Amino acid sequence: MDTQVGIVGGGPAGLMLSHLLHLQDIEAVIVEARSREKLQTEVRAGVLEQGTVDLLRETGVGERMDQEGAVHHGIELRFNRQGHRIPLSDLTDGREIMLYGQHEVVKDLISTRLDAGGQIFFEAEAVGLHDIETQKPTIRYRHDGQDHELRCDVIAGCDGYYGVCRPSIPSEIRTEYERRYPFGWFGILAEAPPSSEELIYTLHERGFALISTRSPEVQRMYFQCDPDDDVGNWSDEQIWKELRVRTEVHDGWALEEGPIIEKGIVGMRSFAVEPMQYGRLYLAGDAAHIVTPTGAKGMNLAIRDVRTLAEALRAWYEKGRTDLLEDYSNTCLKRAWKAQRFSWWMTSMLHRFPDDEGFQHNLQLAELEYVTSSQAAATSLAENYVGIAFDH
Ligand code: PHB
Repeated sequence: MDTQVGIVGGGPAGLMLSHLLHLQDIEAVIVEARSREKLQTEVRAGVLEQGTVDLLRETGVGERMDQEGAVHHGIELRFNRQGHRIPLSDLTDGREIMLYGQHEVVKDLISTRLDAGGQIFFEAEAVGLHDIETQKPTIRYRHDGQDHELRCDVIAGCDGYYGVCRPSIPSEIRTEYERRYPFGWFGILAEAPPSSEELIYTLHERGFALISTRSPEVQRMYFQCDPDDDVGNWSDEQIWKELRVRTEVHDGWALEEGPIIEKGIVGMRSFAVEPMQYGRLYLAGDAAHIVTPTGAKGMNLAIRDVRTLAEALRAWYEKGRTDLLEDYSNTCLKRAWKAQRFSWWMTSMLHRFPDDEGFQHNLQLAELEYVTSSQAAATSLAENYVGIAFDH
């Protein structure tokens, strides 16, 4: 089988890329190891930056998001048992964020692609990339118990951290950077009304907690835990108690509780690879970089990568221009490191570090006091949170 762009991975990056290419009359095929059902139900991130929201709308996949998502204009930082609002929109010329689950974005993109005749092979596992230094790279994959080959002009590696694409860049060319944090996030979904109109990020002596939302009926919450802990060690009552203690304030606010319908622990780490391109292979999203979730940047960064890639591929196919493709890695890396910096900064400010005997905690409180009292500092947080402009 032949196509123009072979896409490994049908998460937000791969799906959005195939959608953008389709709008530019470039043909693409997606090879995805998971089932459609799994992709559409996996609970992941939920914050869309203004730029992501705009792109979904402009390309005709924003309708359900506009009906079911929730626009937020601020977030709250909570420490010393007091809340402080960061008015994101006031500080960024009216920019907003949208709370809408990643799997909902995935659902919308899959149906839009399939309705337009797009080719997505689900449960098709890429087993290797070949000839990526040549003009006809191929993706080998297994589907329905058989081996197949997809020959393309270009391969987009959108297959996440554990995929086959990144390791296809020879190790002597590849530099990987990683930081692991000594904590994880215990995440839950609960059937309860929202406790707050805006997200609450809390630093407490016992550690970080985050109150987020998915819908008027379902809430998403997290608290910092040992990365090696097991969800089985926590009863629902213990989970609620931990969340209550960490988010407690003086003014009588109360956490809304309800049946917990999902629990999970995620480790906290940052990862980046350089370069993001080798031969005819271009990496995008988690295949190239992982940011800590504290900055809510992961999916947004993936969408930005593929937007840059789609623009570069258009210039190449339509005008024979190679400059944008040649710049792809640098363009994306510059942006990704800014997102790394912001995510690292949020993470450092808001978590309890196990070896801290108090010095760091006091620095964190000073930082939080500063961010919530200085307009300059709050503006810096706000412009990063809503997403710095696309070309910066
Ligand atoms: C979420 O709602 O899942 C969420 C929100 C904000 C974050 C991370 C996760 O920073």
